[in-house]
Amino acid sequence: MLLKFSTWSEIETYLGKRQDVFIPIGATEQHGPFGLIGTDAICAEGIATAVGERDGVLVAPSIQVGMSLHHMKFPGSMSLTPQSLIGLTLEWVDSLAAHGFNQFHFVNGHGGNIATLGAAFSEVYLKHPNVRCLTTSWYELPPLQAATAQYFGDGEGYHGTPSELSVSFFLYPEQRRETQPLDDSPLVDDQLYSAADFRRCYPDGRIGANQHLADPKIGEKLFGIAVDAVLERHRKWTELK
Ligand code: NI
Repeated sequence: MLLKFSTWSEIETYLGKRQDVFIPIGATEQHGPFGLIGTDAICAEGIATAVGERDGVLVAPSIQVGMSLHHMKFPGSMSLTPQSLIGLTLEWVDSLAAHGFNQFHFVNGHGGNIATLGAAFSEVYLKHPNVRCLTTSWYELPPLQAATAQYFGDGEGYHGTPSELSVSFFLYPEQRRETQPLDDSPLVDDQLYSAADFRRCYPDGRIGANQHLADPKIGEKLFGIAVDAVLERHRKWTELK
């Protein structure tokens, strides 16, 4: 159930039964030579939407731009500052809490958002003591980690990974890029402080990811595993209340 395809009276009825809502959050940042800039937002939104359909949970509009300052030396990347992302998260929650929503499950597609979301939740709880927030980074769920290890081994890497590319190409097959030969992506020991450090250490944008392994058929399997795992986590969390 998508908020954008609902009417206010349908939301009123929904709130009479349950007060939980999904908020997909991703990023708009470079994903290496063959990954789409929207990969993180595409995966988070696709997974949250499917979970919402399965269990009748409302899905709010996605946060499509996240905390990606370290990718800003690659053309097309966009970022909020942590401060802005905290403010935006708080206002997403404020808007919906005003109507009675009180369980906000953020389905996250981007590691760079996690610390800032945690800080935002502290602000949320200060203002809304009865609200509960949860972040689920889909790619970190144990069944996903097991599946990616099986399909991609060390080729999974850390950024622009074949698993996220596979899911994005399963959801948008027409957007799949043909891969060209690539040098190995070295894992550099240097500390990364700035966006310039990132580009110097990882010139094509990947971190240790073998993007040739990306495959929409594997993406379909990973997507199914992610939907099941997020749904299970959501059910357990909402039962606790
Ligand atoms: Ni990503």
